[in-house]
Amino acid sequence: MDAFVIYGGRRLNGRVRINGSKNASLPLLAASLLTDEPVILRDVPDLADIRNMIRLLRSLGCEINRDETAPGKPLTIQVTDTSNSFAHYDIVRTMRASICVLGPLLGQRGFGEVSMPGGCAIGDRPVDLHLRGFEALSAGIHLESGNIIAKAPAPGRLIGGSMFLGGPFGSTVLGTANVLCAAVRAKGTTVIESAACEPEIVDLANMLTKMGAKIVGAGSPRLVIEGVDRLGGVDHTVMADRIEAGTYILASAITNGNIVLENCPMDSLAAPLFRLAQIGVDVESVGCNGNDHPLDDATIRLSTDNGNPRLNKSNGNGNGSGNLIDPMRQTVRVTSNRRLDPIQMVTQPYPGFPTDLQAQLMALLCLADGNSVVTEKIFPDRFMHVPELLRMGAKLYRNGASVLISGVRELIGAPVMASDLRASAGLILAALAARGMTTVHRIYHLDRGYERMELTLRQLGADIERVDEEELNKRSISVPGLASAVA
Ligand code: EPZ
Repeated sequence: MDAFVIYGGRRLNGRVRINGSKNASLPLLAASLLTDEPVILRDVPDLADIRNMIRLLRSLGCEINRDETAPGKPLTIQVTDTSNSFAHYDIVRTMRASICVLGPLLGQRGFGEVSMPGGCAIGDRPVDLHLRGFEALSAGIHLESGNIIAKAPAPGRLIGGSMFLGGPFGSTVLGTANVLCAAVRAKGTTVIESAACEPEIVDLANMLTKMGAKIVGAGSPRLVIEGVDRLGGVDHTVMADRIEAGTYILASAITNGNIVLENCPMDSLAAPLFRLAQIGVDVESVGCNGNDHPLDDATIRLSTDNGNPRLNKSNGNGNGSGNLIDPMRQTVRVTSNRRLDPIQMVTQPYPGFPTDLQAQLMALLCLADGNSVVTEKIFPDRFMHVPELLRMGAKLYRNGASVLISGVRELIGAPVMASDLRASAGLILAALAARGMTTVHRIYHLDRGYERMELTLRQLGADIERVDEEELNKRSISVPGLASAVA
């Protein structure tokens, strides 16, 4: 197992490119099951979760190769064998997002069996809304020895239907992706009310449309899908990762740095940018790197002006001529005030503040000048980072789904334990600002969603090193008692 050793206090400076989105890539990869023609996906990040999805798709009869030499290091996926439609527990348990192969299997093959995904550190992660959607498409669903078995009605094709996909915590992102992938091949019309509006759903709908699907309303709470008899191949570039972008913006802010991010999906970050402007963090567009992504005239541009998002209509030439700012692939500069203001923030479904940036924002607010309140409305238990931040001298007071953050002058480095993907990121941000050394253990959580984060942060000037736990103990870098603490 690896750990990070971080010596804090260095201001980040420099330039990095944001990778393709993990949370867009997973349903896009699963959607490859909807055709027997080649699907080419560019900008798919090289992450543990992606490698697990590739392993799963291979077990479902896909041939998958990555061309490391071509632009965007494209993955080519092609279904060559449809004899197995069972997603086995030993893969699903490593990544609960595996559930998003069930919709494409049902839509394309009329049958799918997926091991029931377990919960994780941020909550129990039910899939009842996914199943509600499949049943609205006339699928028969039953559970057997921990597996979900889903079957289309005779003669093996789903039937379009209307459904409400809202749950106690709002819409479901992967549930919407799953049901959308089933509905595009169903017979007739499907209406999904309370669909997720996340940009990752828009990216999926864009790819499915290029494959021949008929979808109206992507990005809105109401999707209308006209089922088609077959879908073709596609060459699609994954959207930039808005959570990775938000994480590096916060990393710059917590070190009072000055960094430039390329391929930044600003158009998907209105809520975080608005909150950051209130805190005293400025993210300003410094140009365009959208040449390779021609824009359509309907694209609305969103750029921030002192944190107040404003929409400027395209100037109509829509050809990616370079003088347009592609709102999803901007080059931006991040700067921040030395003194940070406290705020109140509630996580919400898109376009609200994303739950996946909650831990990272909390780390920043630990150093704000005053009291902030963070409320987690999507995963009310998503606070595994709180006890670890307390170890670093933060002043946090949890009350149910809310945490009061009383800003302190400085954080102190300490050994801390990562517990889930975004909590790990939050601890690393705190360590970048803390006085002295921090060791962040169980970094495998981070590797699920960030490609070699230590290399990126080192490129920006951070003093960070990836160390094997054994090596750490051998070097006896750890503070007294650490070896037993991590045993
Ligand atoms: C996606 O998970 C993301 N994962 C999560 O990111 C993200 O936190 C989450 O959406 C919310 O934005 C991927 O895209 C791979 P949900 P998903 O279904 O789709 C409840 C990360 O760090 N719910 O939108 O699984 C659920 O318990 C990960 O990158 C039901 O009640 O989340 C939660 O409270 C973590 N029944 C809320 O809805 C269901 O059937 C939102 O969950 C499904 C969900």
